[in-house]
Amino acid sequence: MSKNIVLCGFMGSGKSVTGKALANCLNTEFIDMDAYIEKTENMSVSEIFEKFGENHFRNLEAKASATLGTFENKVIACGGGTVVNPENTMALKQNGELFYLSVAPETVINRLKTDNTRPLLAKNKENAVNSLLNSRAPIYEAAADHIIDANKSVTEVVEQILKIVREA
Ligand code: S3P
Repeated sequence: MSKNIVLCGFMGSGKSVTGKALANCLNTEFIDMDAYIEKTENMSVSEIFEKFGENHFRNLEAKASATLGTFENKVIACGGGTVVNPENTMALKQNGELFYLSVAPETVINRLKTDNTRPLLAKNKENAVNSLLNSRAPIYEAAADHIIDANKSVTEVVEQILKIVREA
């Protein structure tokens, strides 16, 4: 049985793009949790927030974590809030190694300048990034098996992760 590689971190930390590239290098399947939820609900994350509220989304996220946590040998990108719920962290770590893609607020603000798909950043993006990232950083750090500097290019981030995976 081979462990999953689980990527967590803030919105804009590059979890999806890094996960895709990593899965490609390791010749394995990539699963994006938000995309998985959108597919099972047949609705975008923004629509879920809008129609049913954040709590409902968090329940779907918990269900997805429980399911994806039982998978093997996948690269899984969480949503930015997934590991804020310790039950999700436990489910994903049961058969997965958790990598935290750590980014500075400036990196997020710069990367998400023109993005309007994140309901939690819809109002005053700069303030929302600063305060949410500040409160979540210690949670990501405590949850992670490995902390990766993700203020870098995708290639560099993938290399950092591969080095750890290959040395294990
Ligand atoms: C969220 C992050 C989003 C998505 C939802 C909530 C969060 O995922 O799950 O909008 O709470 O940080 P990304 O990190 O992939 O943008």
